[in-house]
Amino acid sequence: QELQLNLEQIEKNNFDHFMLKEIYEQPNAIKDTYRGRLHAEEGIIRMAGIDDNLERFLNARRIIIVACGTSWHAGLVAEYIFEDLARIPVEVEYASEFRYRNPIINSDDVVIAISQSGETADTMAAIKLAKEKGAFVFGVCNVVGSSISRETNAGAYTHAGPEIGVASTKAFTTQITVLTLIALKLAKAKGSMSNTDFHMHLQELETIPQKIEIALQGNDHIKEVAFKYKDARNCLYLGRGFNFPVALEGALKLKEISYIHAEGYPAAEMKHGPIALIDEEMPVVVIATRKGHYEKVVSNIQEIKSRQGKIIGIVTEGDTSVRDLADYVIEVPDTIESLTPLITTIPLQLLSYHIAVMLGKNVDQPRNLAKSVTVE
Ligand code: G6P
Repeated sequence: QELQLNLEQIEKNNFDHFMLKEIYEQPNAIKDTYRGRLHAEEGIIRMAGIDDNLERFLNARRIIIVACGTSWHAGLVAEYIFEDLARIPVEVEYASEFRYRNPIINSDDVVIAISQSGETADTMAAIKLAKEKGAFVFGVCNVVGSSISRETNAGAYTHAGPEIGVASTKAFTTQITVLTLIALKLAKAKGSMSNTDFHMHLQELETIPQKIEIALQGNDHIKEVAFKYKDARNCLYLGRGFNFPVALEGALKLKEISYIHAEGYPAAEMKHGPIALIDEEMPVVVIATRKGHYEKVVSNIQEIKSRQGKIIGIVTEGDTSVRDLADYVIEVPDTIESLTPLITTIPLQLLSYHIAVMLGKNVDQPRNLAKSVTVE
C-alpha cells in the first residue's frame, strides 16, 4: 500500500494531482509539439503529414473539423486561426452530430479529426463516414498508434506526453499549437499572409512557453480568487473572437471537476439571454485581453457591473481599464491575437483546479466522466 502511494507520488512529480502537474507541463509540452517542426530563424515549418498532402489541403474547398469535448473547443479555436491566417473556410462539428445527420461531404473536402486519446467512438465513426464519402481525413491525436491515428489518411501528433487527469489541459494547448502550425504552413503556401507577418508569427509562437511560465506564476493570486468564488452555484464565462472558444473551455473545466454549473458565451451574445441571470451572486469570468474587440468587451463588463455581477477579468499585463471595473483581474503576458488562447486558457485551468480542490472533489477522476469514451 505504502509502495503504491510512493509510486503515485513519483508519477505526479510531487504535485498533488495529475491535473496540476499537467497544467505545469504545458510550457514543455508545447515545446515538444513544435520541436523539429518550427524553424523560426529560417522561416520554415516542417510537417511531413502536411508536406506529403499539400495539394489536398490547398485545393480543399473547405475544412471540416470533427471532435468531442475539449478537442472540439480546440477545433473552434482552429476555425478562427485557419480562416484568419490561411483564408480557408472551416466548419467545426461535434462528431456525434456529424455522424448521424447525413452530412454533405465532397471528395475535395479535408476533414481534420482531433482527439487526445485517439479512441473516442463518435469521432472514429465520423472519420469512417467522411472516408466513405471520399474526403481526405487528417488526424490530430496525442496517443501514438491509437485507433484514430491509424484510421486517418495522414496526421500530426501533438506529443504532449501522457495525460492522466480526466479534465484535459495540456492536450488542449498542444492541439491548438499543432493546428496553428498547420494554418501557418498553409498560409505560407497559399500566400495569404505577408512574409513579415508570417515570420512574426513563427517567432512569437516560440515565445509562448516562456509566456505560459509567466502566466503560471499567477497561481497564488488565482488561488485567492478561487477561494472567493468557490461557493458560487453558477458561473458565466465570456470571450470574443479567438477567445470565445476559450470561454467555452473555461466553463467546461469548472463543470467537469467542481460540479458548479458554468456556461461559456460569446460576450456579445450575453444580451440575448444570459444577462437575465446576472445578479450579485453571479461570478462572470471575462477574457478581456488588449487585442481585437477590447473596447467592446470592456463595455460588456460595464453591463455586468451595472447589474451587480462579480467580475473576474483575464487581462493583458498592465491593463488599467478593466482593473477599475472588475472585482479581480488576472494578468497574462501580451502576444499576437491569434495566439492569445494558448495563454488565456492557463488561468482558467488553475481557477477550476483550485475551486475543485477547495470543495474536496476528486480532481483527477471526476464523477461520471471517463478519460476516453469508447462507447456511444
Ligand atoms: C472525454 C474526456 C474529455 C475529452 C473528450 C474527447 O469526454 O473526458 O476530456 O475532451 O472525451 O476526447 P478525445 O480523446 O477524443 O480528445
